[in-house]
Amino acid sequence: MIKIDEKKGIFILYTKHTAMILQNLAGFIGMAYYGEKIKIAESEYFCRTDVRPYTPEELPGEEVSFHSIYPHVYPFYGCGNYRETAFRAEQENGSDTCCLKYIGCSIMKEKPKLPGLPQSFTKNCNTETLILYLHDETAGVLAEIMYTLFQDSEVIAQSVRIQNQGENPVMLKKVLSSCLYLEGDLELITLNGTWARERYVQRERINYGVKQIGSINGASSHTHNPFIAAVRPETTETQGEAWGMAFVYSGNFTASAEKDFQDRTQLMMGLHPETFSWELEPGKSFYAPEVLLNYSARGLGRLSRGYHDFIMNHIIRSKWKNRERPVLVNSWEAFYFDFDAEKLLHFADTALACGLDMLVLDDGWFGHREDDTSSLGDWFANEEKIPEGMEWLGEEIQKRNLKFGIWFEPEMISPDSELFRKHPEWAVQIPGRAGTLSRNQYVLDLTRQEVRTYLFRCMADVIHEADISYVKWDMNRQITEAYTPTLPAHRQKEFFHRYILGVYEIQEQLLKTFPDLLLENCAGGGGRFDCGMLYYSPQIWCSDNTDACDRAEIQMGTSLCYPPSCMGAHISACPNHITGRNTDFMTRAHVALAGTFGYELNLMRLTDTQVRQIQEQTAIYHAYSHLTRGGRFYRLMQNENYIAWQFVSPEQTETLVTVIQIRNSPNQARLHLKLQGLIPESCYALDGKLYTGGQLMRIGLPVEPLWGDGVSRLLHLTIEIAE
Ligand code: DGJ
Repeated sequence: MIKIDEKKGIFILYTKHTAMILQNLAGFIGMAYYGEKIKIAESEYFCRTDVRPYTPEELPGEEVSFHSIYPHVYPFYGCGNYRETAFRAEQENGSDTCCLKYIGCSIMKEKPKLPGLPQSFTKNCNTETLILYLHDETAGVLAEIMYTLFQDSEVIAQSVRIQNQGENPVMLKKVLSSCLYLEGDLELITLNGTWARERYVQRERINYGVKQIGSINGASSHTHNPFIAAVRPETTETQGEAWGMAFVYSGNFTASAEKDFQDRTQLMMGLHPETFSWELEPGKSFYAPEVLLNYSARGLGRLSRGYHDFIMNHIIRSKWKNRERPVLVNSWEAFYFDFDAEKLLHFADTALACGLDMLVLDDGWFGHREDDTSSLGDWFANEEKIPEGMEWLGEEIQKRNLKFGIWFEPEMISPDSELFRKHPEWAVQIPGRAGTLSRNQYVLDLTRQEVRTYLFRCMADVIHEADISYVKWDMNRQITEAYTPTLPAHRQKEFFHRYILGVYEIQEQLLKTFPDLLLENCAGGGGRFDCGMLYYSPQIWCSDNTDACDRAEIQMGTSLCYPPSCMGAHISACPNHITGRNTDFMTRAHVALAGTFGYELNLMRLTDTQVRQIQEQTAIYHAYSHLTRGGRFYRLMQNENYIAWQFVSPEQTETLVTVIQIRNSPNQARLHLKLQGLIPESCYALDGKLYTGGQLMRIGLPVEPLWGDGVSRLLHLTIEIAE
């Protein structure tokens, strides 16, 4: 619900439990409050008229002090605001100064579209959008700040449209998407890491000055995830305030927290300005990607579940999102590049014997690829390995009653490839400057239409020919020497944004052409795990690290924003190929169960006992997938000894608890795992014993001691209906 009191200059955005109050002071829109719901009658008080900055009218001749402390919803540069700005537009005279004054607002039932971008959709849900029009007369620039409310969610989707209404082009140098202001002591939570260690949680105090994270490598990155949360120092999983910002975007981004000298914290998120500019012609618009804002008065867990529901209901479009995914086996850790058709068919026979549903052929099936030094771009069967071709292979796999999935790395080109020999100019490079290789490959210039057309055609042909049900879209290097000869010198900083728009365009086209295709995004493990990608694929490969202990931690971090059912998770061989660690086969399955669930090991090397265990594991997956896909997710515990989580059915009638013992520490008090999300007065049964929801949530579920490291328990409790 949106309430506007034009006379008092107050705008209130209400979700079911939250309120955001914006105010118009002297023609500038500021953020007065964002938090737990308040009454309309209280809103004026929340605008803090007693402590507000003096407006230029009240203190003539002193405008700078107003701008320097006013919480502008879309802070601009040049008139006295010396904190971080959200917007910079260079005009014909070379100046970046803008003064965005409020000129009106509108409320729409239809959510405005963001052309070419991933964005939250409103299907089956009433929405309302408040658009604030902020205008700089001198530059002829109109900024439309859009906030969309969803009837079924606490999340507010914010985006920005910039229009050039002047007569000259303007050069947009910074167009962030969202800015929040919060008061009081806060801590910042970010998800950070690197390859094989993605999305580890860091929590730190927000002090004076600017704390910034982001990416400039072309992808949202392994290093920092485009999600941040601000929390009170006392906030835990189950109590305390938490605010979140998640970017619906997969390229370069910035997210920052700045505490100013008024002890107010400004949180911002948007396109990274260091690698961005955009020439905006008169009459044209630029759309900044969406940020999903969220608030919880009751802990981080609730904030996460709010995001999970929103992503499931309003971001992921794939029809697969609510379906049980086929249990796949992927060839990567099974064979790497060392396979041929005979081996693959033997692999397929074994997969069938294990009761699996799909074989995914990973890297190495195309061109003359024997290792990572060649053939990216040559998307046709490797004649040495698959002389009969992809159509034949697809038929053979399907004859065995298995679905067929395939890996592509569409965005790349190997210098040793037919494509490079034909079109060296398609590789991202700067004429006259040596290109930097990574994993022996260059990036394709996806800002060029002809490159996108070529890629789509290649992929569509293989998908069609081999009757492919699943595609893993990988991206294994970062972008260097960002440049495209198709743009003039002064517009080169458009490259990164145009590149990611190119990625989105091809994925959109693929999904339109093959509406049943199950797409999984991937970027050298989890280097592009973001809400932008989820708009196209219902799942993303979480990390190349499949060690059960590390993976449990990576999945816990990822779950701060993203639903478990979208985390690509496989059971691999031990000793683990990356960590060398041994974990129990069942533990690996318990961790993968909390994600998409699949296998990535050489099935031909399994013992008979392991084959039986696979059958048991897949049966568990089928038995509980309604909970792991449709249940609510609770993080229960995470320390050096244990990681534990829980899924609860929407009706709270059953719950699935996973406890991983990372490291055994003997002679400790019996672990009592405090569960969450149950009905306190109902009884839940486990192994013939009954516990009330209240007992399980207050005292906890006693967990039998576990022996060893990397071992686990899966506990399923169901409600007992009184006779
Ligand atoms: C990186 C991915 O994360 C892996 O799963 C695998 O597909 C390799 N690339 C193949 O090159």
